[in-house]
Amino acid sequence: MTTPRLFQLEDMFKFNHIVLDPLVEVYPLPFFLPKILEHPDLVLTAVAPDDRLVGFILGTRIVDSQEPRIIGDGNYQQSACHGHISALAVAHDYRRLGLGTRLMESLRQLLDRYKDPYVDLCVREKNHNAIDLYETLGYVKYRWLPQYYANDHGYDMRLPLASDVERRSLEGITRNKFYSFGNMIFHLLIIFVEGVRQILKSDTR
Ligand SMILES: CC(C)(COP(=O)(O)OP(=O)(O)OC[C@H]1O[C@@H](n2cnc3c(N)ncnc32)[C@H](O)[C@@H]1OP(=O)(O)O)[C@@H](O)C(=O)NCCC(=O)NCCS
Repeated sequence: MTTPRLFQLEDMFKFNHIVLDPLVEVYPLPFFLPKILEHPDLVLTAVAPDDRLVGFILGTRIVDSQEPRIIGDGNYQQSACHGHISALAVAHDYRRLGLGTRLMESLRQLLDRYKDPYVDLCVREKNHNAIDLYETLGYVKYRWLPQYYANDHGYDMRLPLASDVERRSLEGITRNKFYSFGNMIFHLLIIFVEGVRQILKSDTR
């Protein structure tokens, strides 16, 4: 089994076969590069014995507030941040071998060192394989994201990290569920109204 290693800039010339998948969000270089340069320690790749790149995970940290905060051991952290996974992909012929799990777990361990309270990510509502993987690893659907993607809804999923012993980063999840329910009703209503409008339009022709 391959061990994840840090992503190197030349890996960007080797990962097209992984990212050109309908479920992988393809980002332009101006998106990738700053993230890789900002936190190169949080971008990992899995390499096959023949040196082919077979998986990668793009982790980063998002600043929530510039307010310094006390972390578990009494030290101060300059700003409050949380971990974020911007992209995860495993090559087709290497799926279901545990690589996705290994990349996710390695990143979690790295984020734990920063003592961030949680890590989050966004996933398409229809991407059941990825959602299964995340739920297996303890992530929970924190918020429903209507129309987050051009042609799909999404979920914001969260995993409390080791420093969040009381799992406070999951607070608000019940409120979000009510809000998501309201949003869902609103969307169904729009679809219904649009359907009625189309029927009336075709009747008047
Ligand atoms: C999602 C993805 C990263 C999973 O990678 P992977 O290396 O196959 O994942 P693992 O082998 O570690 O799978 C772990 C668990 O996830 C779930 N899972 C992953 N792929 C699955 C599939 N095709 N069908 C059902 N469950 C699946 C299972 O619970 C699996 O555990 P199991 O094999 O013991 O049943 C990979 O399928 C992929 O690259 N997909 C396209 C890109 C993508 O969707 N990225 C995520 C965007 S948010």
